[in-house]
Amino acid sequence: MLKKIAVLTGAGMSAESGIKTFRDAGGLWENHDVMTVASPQGWADDQELVLRFYNDRRRQLQEVEPNQGHLDLVPLEQNHDVVIITQNVDDLHERAGSSHIIHLHGELNKVRCTVDETLVYDWPKDLVTGDLSDAGHQLRPHIVWFGEMVPLLEKAAGEVATADIIIIIGTSMQVYPAAGLVSYAKPNAKIYYIDPHPQLNYELMHAAHVVVIEEVATKGVKQCIGMIEGK
Ligand code: OAD
Repeated sequence: MLKKIAVLTGAGMSAESGIKTFRDAGGLWENHDVMTVASPQGWADDQELVLRFYNDRRRQLQEVEPNQGHLDLVPLEQNHDVVIITQNVDDLHERAGSSHIIHLHGELNKVRCTVDETLVYDWPKDLVTGDLSDAGHQLRPHIVWFGEMVPLLEKAAGEVATADIIIIIGTSMQVYPAAGLVSYAKPNAKIYYIDPHPQLNYELMHAAHVVVIEEVATKGVKQCIGMIEGK
């Protein structure tokens, strides 16, 4: 039977592709101060540092590939209505072949005008001071920084609210509003949470049908799909 499936992914989804998570030991936030590289204040204080941080991430993206977890999500589309709501700014779901993806926190391979937010450009190379939008203003990474609105939140909430099944993969469920999306789930929605170190937040602890799969993405996604398809 066709089901609506919302897949919520975080940094752990891409960990086995070689992209560091944020809060695990050795994660990105251990060596970088969040507010310095991922906030409007950080950008105002030291634009060069912020540009370098995202240029490094963008370059690294060209050296990695989708992992088996990304790939295993793709065939789910054959029998179900699948939407992927990712906190990740990488393009590994796209490269794996998933077709319906919402990037809650923006995209590394895009930049936008610092003045007119509607001017967004594909940008696979380094971004430097002096790169300007068509309106003549400096471009910035197309990333949702701390303290900024999450423009696609409402759209994502609408997808979660209509889902029969919600699969959460590789997120510490600590960063709101993304971590609160499960509170929009239908009361009878079945929720699967795949993470080697799951941390059930308030919303998950109060959800009715939660199955925790304590596994890495490359194994857990397979296991989860087996449960859904009854194999
Ligand atoms: P975190 O770094 O907070 O959490 C990563 C999660 O991935 C943890 O729960 C790990 O246990 C799990 N994990 C590690 N290896 C895994 C694997 N191989 N398979 C599956 N899971 C694994 O990352 P997020 O929850 O994504 O925002 O962080 C949310 C947001 O905080 C990010 O989007 C980013 C960050 O600050 C911005 O930069 C705007």
